[in-house]
Amino acid sequence: MPEKETFKVTPYEVKGRIDYDRLREQFGTQELTAELREELRTMAGGTLHPLIERGIYYSHRDLSALLREHRNGQRFFLYSGRGPSGPLHLSHLVPFELCQWIQEKFDVPMYIQITDDEKFWARPQLSREETVAWGRENLLDILAVGFDPKRTRVFFDSRSIAALYPLAIRVARRIPYSTVKAVFGFPPSANIGLVFYTALQTVPCFYPSWEAGRSVPCLIPCGIDQDPHFRVTRDIAESLGYPKPALLHSQMVPGLLGEGVMSTTGGAEENALFLNDPPKTVERKLRRAFTGGRSSVEEQRRLGATPEICSIWALWKTRFADTPEKFEQITRDCRSGALLCGDCKGELIERVHGFYRAHEAAREAWKGRAEELIVTAPPHPD
Ligand code: TRP
Repeated sequence: MPEKETFKVTPYEVKGRIDYDRLREQFGTQELTAELREELRTMAGGTLHPLIERGIYYSHRDLSALLREHRNGQRFFLYSGRGPSGPLHLSHLVPFELCQWIQEKFDVPMYIQITDDEKFWARPQLSREETVAWGRENLLDILAVGFDPKRTRVFFDSRSIAALYPLAIRVARRIPYSTVKAVFGFPPSANIGLVFYTALQTVPCFYPSWEAGRSVPCLIPCGIDQDPHFRVTRDIAESLGYPKPALLHSQMVPGLLGEGVMSTTGGAEENALFLNDPPKTVERKLRRAFTGGRSSVEEQRRLGATPEICSIWALWKTRFADTPEKFEQITRDCRSGALLCGDCKGELIERVHGFYRAHEAAREAWKGRAEELIVTAPPHPD
């Protein structure tokens, strides 16, 4: 019984083995059903992103209403973000890869928030200079996913504050301290920057409506750990005259060591695959990664392995099996024992190297251009 209670998910802490269905119930979100997936497929012109097809995005709030409005001519915009505390790892791309796909298929604007302030407040060991520098680096990696420069804008918090602040003032007045304390579980020693911060994460949800002077619906693809921020947003949206943002929640990518999610908050560098890891490091980390394999080749041939617990299979599933056939083949051969872990890792390592090379080239092409997307002035005086 006590085993059931061993996970915890907030924007500032992810702990234990997450039971995603129970988490969805705790948070009170809706299930991303097969029916809704089909609706998305049809609207996207007949294809579905693998992250949705394979159930990594599994939960939502108000997605069907947003799609209905979109069909009726109320076009939505996308919003997601990143707290720049260090280099990006593969799991950080999950929201942005989905956003890029939706931007392309639905022809909608994208807003990216880089929260250099949040991470300065949340991580005492980081200096201002570091969070700003990581913000710039992370932004290049995010844009490299393939966003359309004409339809993409960036809020880089400390630099965009003049644009964000008029709305932040209004949002902050609606959020009682007791709400923040209850939702995020901050201890009394938490600094007041973090207490205020959630107001800034809300602002991009309303910004396009404020700019346009009419309701523009918002869709936020994000890790389910970010949902608490947007529960606060949704509670106050209508009182400020803005639509509640819709959300699409993903599960987190499991760590390479077989424990928890891909994150380095616990200090284990080996648990995550960073986009700036050199090829040798990528290879070492993947070779050492936890798998669902058996203790001997003979046993594995006879009994097969267990993909569901394997960190390598999770990477195939998240982004490296580029077709449904490839994903099925890996899964089938793993389960049957036809594929051994060493060979599977070898093949994945080659794919990761190829992806890193392409990513590096795309990132390079954004240098000098990324700055132009940063919003610095408010749309109009108020
Ligand atoms: N708080 C997020 C983080 O720590 C960053 C963020 C800002 C964000 N706005 C967002 C994430 C919107 C998802 C959606 O990384």
